[in-house]
This record gives sequence, C-alpha cells and structure tokens, in this order.
Amino acid sequence: MLSNEKQDHGTGIDLSHHLSAVSRARKISPLRGLQKYMSKPGLVSLAGGLPSAEYFPFASVTGEILVQNSFPLNTESESSRNWFWKLFSRAEKERTTSFTVDKYPKHPGDLSLESSLQYSLASGQPQLQEIVHEFVERVFQPGYSKWATLIHTGNTAGFHAVVQTILNPGEGLMVSEWTYPGAMAIVQPYDIRAIPIGMDIEGMSSISLRQTLAEWDESARGMARPHVLYVIPIGQNPTGTTMGVARKREIYDICVEYDVIIVEDDPYFFLQEGKYLPKSERVPEPELDDEAFIASLAPSFLKIDYQGRVIRMDTFSKTVCPGARLGWFTCNPMFAERFERTTEASAAASCGLTQMRMNQKRTRVYVASLLLNWRYTGYMRWLKGIVIRGM
Ligand SMILES: Cc1ncc(COP(=O)(O)O)c(C=O)c1O
Repeated sequence: MLSNEKQDHGTGIDLSHHLSAVSRARKISPLRGLQKYMSKPGLVSLAGGLPSAEYFPFASVTGEILVQNSFPLNTESESSRNWFWKLFSRAEKERTTSFTVDKYPKHPGDLSLESSLQYSLASGQPQLQEIVHEFVERVFQPGYSKWATLIHTGNTAGFHAVVQTILNPGEGLMVSEWTYPGAMAIVQPYDIRAIPIGMDIEGMSSISLRQTLAEWDESARGMARPHVLYVIPIGQNPTGTTMGVARKREIYDICVEYDVIIVEDDPYFFLQEGKYLPKSERVPEPELDDEAFIASLAPSFLKIDYQGRVIRMDTFSKTVCPGARLGWFTCNPMFAERFERTTEASAAASCGLTQMRMNQKRTRVYVASLLLNWRYTGYMRWLKGIVIRGM
C-alpha cells in the first residue's frame, strides 16, 4: 500500500463509520503479524509455511510482448489496410520485445520467480505497486493527498471486497436502473437491496439521486437511507453511456451532503470515444501527447474527491487481458487497509504466476514485466493505440 504526500489538497475525512460489522471485526491475519520477525538474522521459521524457492519447478519465465506502438494512432492508416489480407497473411509479423524473469534476481529491484512465486503480501508486488501508483498520480490526479493504491484480482473480486467491507445485510445499494449484472450477483446473496436511480444520456441522473436520498422514508422502505453508491461512469454496462465532469461534480456534491461512499467501477475509462459520428463524417484527429490525451478524457471521480469518499476500481482486463485477473483500488488509506485484511482472508494475494486453470498462462509476472518494460509512456501509447483501433 502506497500513499502520496506530494500534492496537498487535504487529507480526506474520517469515514470509518461506513465500515461493515464484518470489517470492523476483522483482525490482522496472525501469519501477517509474524512477518516482521521473518527478516531477523539466524531465524529458522517453522511458522509461515513458505516453501524454499529452490524447489519451485520453474527456472525462468520468458515471454514476448507486443511493442507499445503496435497499433497506429492515425485512424486513416489503420482503415486503409486490407484486413482480410492482414488476417490470413503471415507476412506482417507482429513486432515484439522479449523479457525473461529468472528465479533469482540479477540486480537489486529485478522481478524474480523466487519472490513472485512465493507467498506474498495481499497488497501486491512492490514493483507493480509503484507502477500503478505513478499511473494514478499522473492520470487520475486524486483531489486529496493521502490516497492509497492496493492491487486486487480484478474488479469483480475488488467489488466483492468492497461489499464485505462497507455494506451490512439488509442495507440498500444505490445503482443505475440498468446496471452490471455481475455486480448485482455479488450483492444479492448478502441481502443487500439494489436501489435503482434513474438514468439519462449521461448515465446516472443527479436529479433522481437527490430525489431518492431527499425523499427517503425509512419506515416505508423498511431500511435506513443507503450510504453507498455503485457507478460505472464510462461506457456504462449495459447502456454504454458516458458521464461528463459536470454530472460527476453534481453526484459527488450530493454524496458529500448525504454522506454517501462512491464506488467507481471504471473498466472502460480509456475507451472514451467522444460524440458518435458516422464513419463517413470522421476526419483524422491530430496525434495527442500524453497530457493532452489525459486532458481530453472525462476525469475520474477521484479528481473531484477532496474527502476520500471515492473507492475507485481499475482493471487490466480490458486494456491488457482478462486472464491476468489483476487490477487495483485507489481509495483512502483507511479503506485500503481494510481491503488488504479482506484479501488476506480470501485469495491471500493475487496470483504470482498462473491462474490455476489448464492451458492458461497469463500471469502477474507477465503483467508486471510488461509494465516494467513499457513504463508509463509505453502503457499510455498502448492505451491510445487500442482506443483508436476500437473506433
Ligand atoms: C462494469 C464492469 N465491472 C467489472 C467487470 C469485470 O471486471 P474484471 O475482469 O476486472 O473482474 C466488467 C466486465 O465486463 C464490467 O463491465
């Protein structure tokens, strides 16, 4: 878990009254509590159950990564290619760079199988944490200083951890009237009831949200006023709507007024394509540098958040591959610490090498290697390329 002390727009407020009974009751895992003793010289630990890396049957892992500029930024040059030929011809070979992760690190800070394949902290590998933290700082620019990032195993698992951490059975969860069925499947068995909020062309309506909260009648509804809002602001699933910054501000202000936590599930953030134009009316857009590209996107709720009441979930599922089962939270450190405890008691940590399914070799080692290879500018270039490709 990393926190950012550089910007100083405030440090957020105490929101611990939102924690669920389960989360309040959850203590640090006893094994995690022992970790501080593990580095003591001469200590022979029989407690952690850590197998020796010597016996891991992997000597090294090697992969080929597509180069970051595999997809052109110019829509014209892309569409002028003959797709049929491209699909069936081997002449246009994909350009790649290779990486190898050895069992033992050659240089300090290298990824190694010795640590990647070992039991690890629920918070994620430090190298990946650093990349993710820099990314959030530069792209989402949270509006308060002490935010934290925490690796998770994709937004599905991330949302499950959120539900366990801030919702109690019998409570309501505000959602758009059309929403992601995967999220509903998570809350339903906990007896958490969906409270539908009306929608318009920008997704969740702030008018409907205010009305729901202002007119909440506890005895008629049989439950307290809801304190959690789940929203998919960009490329809303299933309607495809995208929410502009003015609407986000309105929703955020209402949530401040009624003390509501915003859960921002945003897998499609980079797939913002602007107003729809038929292909015949499109003109080639100038290539944008990273700053201009970020400025052209509707910002995350994080940028508006000066109190630390936004829990943002990002995933690599749509920008790298779903089989990676990897993503991260950005939220205030109090929530991040609780999510870390929840992860310790479920997956323990996200996958070190493979998903435990046959023939599936997509891994955190791979994603970390990929991002270490591309770094920030390379990943941004990749994102810009896939946005243009998808248009
Ligand atoms: C809104 C939304 N949230 C979460 C997910 C799943 O994300 P992940 O693969 O990170 O679990 C999807 C996938 O379709 C989605 O549309």
